[in-house]
Amino acid sequence: MRNFITGVAMLGAALAFATTASAEPIKIKFSHVVADATPKGQGALKFKELVEKRLPGKVVVEVYPNSQLYGDSKEMEALLLGDVQIIAPSLSKFSKFTKKLQVFDLPFLFDDIQAVDRFQKSKVGQSLLKSIESKGYTGLAYWHNGMKQLSANKPLRVPADAKGLKFRIQSSDVLEAQFKALGANPQKMAFAEVYQALQTGTVDGQENTWSNIYSQKFHEAQKYITESNHGVIDYMVVTNTKFWNGLPADIRTALEQCMDEATLYANKLADDINQGDKKKIMDSGKTEIITLTKQQQQQWRKAMAPVYKQFEPAVGKDLIDAALASNKAS
Ligand code: LMR
Repeated sequence: MRNFITGVAMLGAALAFATTASAEPIKIKFSHVVADATPKGQGALKFKELVEKRLPGKVVVEVYPNSQLYGDSKEMEALLLGDVQIIAPSLSKFSKFTKKLQVFDLPFLFDDIQAVDRFQKSKVGQSLLKSIESKGYTGLAYWHNGMKQLSANKPLRVPADAKGLKFRIQSSDVLEAQFKALGANPQKMAFAEVYQALQTGTVDGQENTWSNIYSQKFHEAQKYITESNHGVIDYMVVTNTKFWNGLPADIRTALEQCMDEATLYANKLADDINQGDKKKIMDSGKTEIITLTKQQQQQWRKAMAPVYKQFEPAVGKDLIDAALASNKAS
């Protein structure tokens, strides 16, 4: 009898413990490499706000901006290990996992961010969110940043001006080929290291969006920015598939809704942030913004064009054609 009572008491204690333990909120660490005041930074904060309002006491979201927790080289691994639960790398940083996403890096593929948006929303675009599933990752959404501009310490007006210069690039073979096509020397480097590399002259230039240039103060270390709009920096918000599928179904559904709303919010804001930051850069007087003539723009397009043939076998002609077709609003 005494054994029975002890057994019941232990079971009770275990149940009580289990109840307390399951009452602990689920923690989602959302790590990224840019500043809060950027499209991605704002999207992450909106997601946190929505989740904590909808799922109070059930889920908390901790946002770690500016490579505070993990930088470019470690975040995919940290996600797989369960050290973070959501990240949003630029689409240029997935080539280790799939060649398909390289399509986004092809120079002058998209006329503007609206074309990028149409492609991402298309059936083909949506299917690419699944392109890294076999590696343990689930793509939750695309987030916009914007079109890339070229910066350097010398004016870049025609492709020949870039010859021999060292450019920092994201870890992308397409971007490497793009700069090689110009006769320049590309150098893959983590985002967190770029400002210093520009300041010390380790590299002469880089390519990025207005919001990244402004928030990282790249314009203070570069005398010229050419408004080239030659490519795009956008993101895939990714989670760990095991983590995501292991969530209670009602929580996962609520999180998906919050992600959809945060996506709408961030994507609506992205262009405004970039245009606002362009103006702040102009007003700072620290750098000169070079506007290209139609003819000069054509020269850059032509100089970078060989990259298409080089990557067509890996990316697929169908995919490139589908992306090109998104330039026409239907
Ligand atoms: C870069 O490395 O330049 C960008 O991908 C950073 C970012 O996340 O926007």
